[in-house]
Amino acid sequence: MLPTIKPHRTKAWGKLEEHYKKISKSHLRELFADDPERFHKFSLQLEDILFDYSKNRITEKTVQHLLDLAEECELDKAISSMFSGDTINATEGRAVLHTALRNFSGQPVYTGGKDVMPDVQAVWQQMRSFCERVHSGAWTGYTGKKIRSIVNIGIGGSDLGPYMVTEALKPYWLEGMQVYFVSNVDATHIAETLKKVNAEETLFLIASKTFTTQETMTNALTARAWFLQSAVEEAHVAKHFVALSTNEKEVTKFGIDKANMFGFWDWVGGRYSLWSSIGLSIALTIGYDNFEQLLKGGHATDHHFRTTPFDKNIPVIMALVGLWYTDFFGSQTEAILPYDQYLHRFAAYFQQGNMESNGKSVDRKGKPVSYATGPVIWGEPGTNGQHAFYQLIHQGTVLIPCDFIAPAISHNPIGDHHAKLLSNFFAQTEALMNGKTGKEVAAELEKAGKSEEEIEALTPFKEFAGNRPTNSILIKKITPYTLGQLIALYEHKIFVQGVIWNIFSFDQWGVELGKQLANNILPELENDKPVKGHDASTNGLINAWKKMKQ
Ligand code: F6P
Repeated sequence: MLPTIKPHRTKAWGKLEEHYKKISKSHLRELFADDPERFHKFSLQLEDILFDYSKNRITEKTVQHLLDLAEECELDKAISSMFSGDTINATEGRAVLHTALRNFSGQPVYTGGKDVMPDVQAVWQQMRSFCERVHSGAWTGYTGKKIRSIVNIGIGGSDLGPYMVTEALKPYWLEGMQVYFVSNVDATHIAETLKKVNAEETLFLIASKTFTTQETMTNALTARAWFLQSAVEEAHVAKHFVALSTNEKEVTKFGIDKANMFGFWDWVGGRYSLWSSIGLSIALTIGYDNFEQLLKGGHATDHHFRTTPFDKNIPVIMALVGLWYTDFFGSQTEAILPYDQYLHRFAAYFQQGNMESNGKSVDRKGKPVSYATGPVIWGEPGTNGQHAFYQLIHQGTVLIPCDFIAPAISHNPIGDHHAKLLSNFFAQTEALMNGKTGKEVAAELEKAGKSEEEIEALTPFKEFAGNRPTNSILIKKITPYTLGQLIALYEHKIFVQGVIWNIFSFDQWGVELGKQLANNILPELENDKPVKGHDASTNGLINAWKKMKQ
């Protein structure tokens, strides 16, 4: 069980409130000037990953109070509860054991008195041998041709993770393999994808934990109908459709043979499922060995998270620093800004990871919370973002803590591209921290030959307050292993914050209402009769649509 300590009633919270009054007046420029050791004090290393959090509005005292908060909220107990298979997803009555999916310690992992590792290992084996058969050509399509296209049909956690990872690891794609992801129930998504593949060489992975998700089932049926237009015989479906799911009953009902199902378990949350058989699209695209490296990277982070004292524990520090801004500075958003084009879906992936997990306003006793919880997560790769939305990060009225992520070595070492990319990566956090004083602006304008009047008029617009906080994550190279490490760092950050906020991070009841209402509305759209049963706006919109579509 997770503790139910109210964070804002702890001693540490009170101290942080007091401390905030002081810190909010100091500037990062001064903090750096006052302490030449700041970078060494506030940076941590996990193998080939350097995490620099020195450009944050913190001092050693801040960190100490935040660590005290973690201690008072019994973070240590929560961590062991998760890893030891307690039912910490209490509202769904489930354990949270995605860490078992990447457990290479050789140790058992128990939940409900049962070691889950034999089942996990059996699915690893099933996935490995399936990948080998597909890649060697032992598994062919219905006309005997090799499988060359993988189409993953899934949504949310059954899409975002595998999509993000396959994009991030494009340099590792096996020659001749192509992967596509279909998620949206908008027919455009499947229609455009089907234009790119041919039935004889395509394998559809129907990825759904529940196997009842409307979007996925609709797309799966459309794919099946499209496939049968070419293959004609139902028997051929078995060669081209496999299921990744926890729900054997629904999989069989859908018409997929049990033998073509790759299972996982209810203790794997959808947004944490890329490590499970939901990752089959990854393994098929980059090869099972590389998929295993991804898992091993995740496992390395788990080990770091479980065994490292909190003051040196990267996910714990990431979480505490984030919480400092959310709860004391009133920041409502965090940006994730990867300086790596291959990581272009990373922010979108953790948008679900973070917002579905910590977008909660009721504590673990069911009472409304009176402090801020999960921030809005967003972001795009640099340098693109610089030419789009960074203006507001630099000079807007809101404080947006940012994570800057970059590989030291590019997979595409062409000319000076990477040096240019990284010069921007370094420059942005420096600019956000230092800003530019009125004096500096005036001196610059003077040098450019501007008159005194012009200088006075322009200075307020060209001045940057700076003092905008950032983390920098520098990774030697994006490999399956380091990517696995990085993903798990963010996962545990989310977990730590949820523990301290005293909320349940592993359910997502908030997404259900919209689904229920859509199910009620769907039959109303099947005829031309005007609807009356909703509010005036919803009635008006539905009725307008009925007229418009004619
Ligand atoms: O509606 C939200 C959600 O349940 C997510 O949590 C999940 O990742 C997604 O839908 C897809 O669910 P499934 O894998 O069961 O199709």
